[in-house]
Amino acid sequence: MTGLSDFFVRREQKGKGMSDTIRVLIVEDIPTDAELMEYELQNAGMNFSVQRVKTEEAYISALSAFLPDVILSDYSLPAFDGITALRLKLERAPDTPFIFVTGALGEELAIDLLKQGATDYILKNRLARLPVAVSRALREVEERKEHQLAQATLRTTEELLRKVATAIEQTAESIMVTNTDGKVEYINPALTRITGYAEDDILGREFTLLRSDRHPRSFYDSIWQTVNSGNPWKGRLVRKRKDGSVYDIEETISPVKDRSGVVVNYVFVGRDVTEQIRLEEQLRHALKMEAVGTLAGGIAHDFNNMLSVIILNAELARDDVHGRPRINIEEIISASQRAADLVKQILTFSRKSDHEKNALNLTPLVKETYKLLRSTLPVTIEMQLEMKAASDTIMGDPSEVQQVLMNLATNAYHAMLEKGGRLLISLSDRTFETRQTLPHASMEPGRYVVLSVTDTGCGISEEVKTRIFEPFFTTKKPGQGTGLGLAVVYGIVQSHGAAVTVDSAVGRGSTFTVFFPALEDIAEAGSQKRGIMPMGSERLLVVDDEPSVVKATAETLQRLGYKVTTATSGAEAWKLFRFAPEGFDLIITDAVMPEMTGMTLAQRILEVRPDVPIILFTGFSENLSSEDVKAAGIREFLLKPFPKHQLAETVRRVLVGTNSTR
Ligand SMILES: Nc1ncnc2c1ncn2[C@@H]1O[C@H](COP(=O)(O)OP(=O)(O)OP(=O)(O)O)[C@@H](O)[C@H]1O
Ligand SMILES: [Mg+2]
Repeated sequence: MTGLSDFFVRREQKGKGMSDTIRVLIVEDIPTDAELMEYELQNAGMNFSVQRVKTEEAYISALSAFLPDVILSDYSLPAFDGITALRLKLERAPDTPFIFVTGALGEELAIDLLKQGATDYILKNRLARLPVAVSRALREVEERKEHQLAQATLRTTEELLRKVATAIEQTAESIMVTNTDGKVEYINPALTRITGYAEDDILGREFTLLRSDRHPRSFYDSIWQTVNSGNPWKGRLVRKRKDGSVYDIEETISPVKDRSGVVVNYVFVGRDVTEQIRLEEQLRHALKMEAVGTLAGGIAHDFNNMLSVIILNAELARDDVHGRPRINIEEIISASQRAADLVKQILTFSRKSDHEKNALNLTPLVKETYKLLRSTLPVTIEMQLEMKAASDTIMGDPSEVQQVLMNLATNAYHAMLEKGGRLLISLSDRTFETRQTLPHASMEPGRYVVLSVTDTGCGISEEVKTRIFEPFFTTKKPGQGTGLGLAVVYGIVQSHGAAVTVDSAVGRGSTFTVFFPALEDIAEAGSQKRGIMPMGSERLLVVDDEPSVVKATAETLQRLGYKVTTATSGAEAWKLFRFAPEGFDLIITDAVMPEMTGMTLAQRILEVRPDVPIILFTGFSENLSSEDVKAAGIREFLLKPFPKHQLAETVRRVLVGTNSTR
């Protein structure tokens, strides 16, 4: 047996018996005296072996070869003496008891001998006491040894216990120990973290307070059947936190037995899998939507063809008839057009519509849509706009993104139709560093532009929530909703590589949040092929005496991934460059600046580093021709105002050209 419980077993073991042979070393020159000692020990029923010595050499070698359990020594011998024997034993076998067996011995001398380290003394005329003295001496040795062993074991055990305790306290798994009545005796911090119960709340109480109402009685019965038959139970459970909310846990419940096999405790070890289950559900949902989308898309496609035929023919027929039939045909046409509208929405949902996507700033788009909503929604809806996105550029189609916002806001409005309420539209940005923090399974860590619509309306029940994105799923009365709003949102979100999440509580309202991958991340993912502007990560120095130009240019380049340093005069730029000539991969400078012009700056820079590429930009063509500029060693020349893509392309071209000529 090893480990912690072993310690307690050892502690309970009694000291070993004295049935072993005792090795007795007798220091005595008179054989009869020695025999008398042996006789007394034998008489007392002791099991022993003896070695007799009478010289110092014999004594020393016996100490190490015979390894006596006890030494019986005369006080004075012709060739040796007891005091020396005692001193030698203290040096060489300090734990071995040493008993003087002598003729007359004065009281004072006796005390002195004991002080010097003798264990006991016996007078030769009272030898009957010898066995008792030997036994006592041996017992004392045994006890001392045991004590030392116990101390050492205690130290290692304490160390081990401390290690185990630290591990239990720091593990991410929740651990709970109950007694056989189900009363909680221990919980670890992870359990507190997961359930909200502190030790004071739960110690001494029944563990069943963690039970949710999600499982039937029979389920719990089967767990305890397993555990009570002495086996651990393992499985997924829904448990309840202190605040009443539930969580999913993968738990092992084991009976803890003592050495005689009696169950004395139960130990519950669990891993919170709420998050894992949520992600699994999202994935399942995504797969279902994919299937529905494919199906709907196929139908819509055929419908489109049929509707075209219906509408075209109905229009032809309309022109040929008058009176009542004409009115009927008008009806056919308008119903067909409504149907065509629906088909268009389905196509959006099933991603069969191919809208072109470009870099798109969401701030103006959201503001504009907000204005539109504000003017159409009744005053019973209090509206609020929150714009906190530092970077708001995505790859997207403006009309589709607007459609997402309109559909979400319309739903929010409908949810507050009866009682009124507050509608909050917010735009922000967020970076997710790790997978664990991602709000949706389809997302990758990275930067996102986040659009959310919150209402204080009726909220959505858990059951309804699983279906809201399905096409034609609606809880509205016939004629009031087709159930396509969110399906369209879903389709658009998918085609944007985005994700949408819903957070809702019945009676309290809902928040729909759309996470659009931020443009810089898309570009990093190597999507340049899709017609996105070329990007890079080189170090650029941007110089212009107009701060707003510097700022806009720098920001544009930063978004493209470059590391940009700015200067607002030729002199400042020169200082920066001279300080770290190797710190820049490209210089972009305005041509016309007071004091030091762009050309002068360029010349100075090129004197120090002829290889550094320089782009010159100017407000009008001044006296500089493209040839002049190139002749001065400047690579390219940009005419203000230049569109973003031209800047991006020029910078990239110059940098690539530089690398390939190196
Ligand atoms: N903000 C919300 N609050 C409460 N329930 C909502 C909210 N948004 C959506 N729902 C629920 O989701 C269902 C589906 O929404 P969806 O927009 O797809 O269709 P609809 O609004 O019913 O019809 P349509 O948008 O086609 O006119 C709604 O019927 C409603 O039950
Ligand atoms: Mg809707």
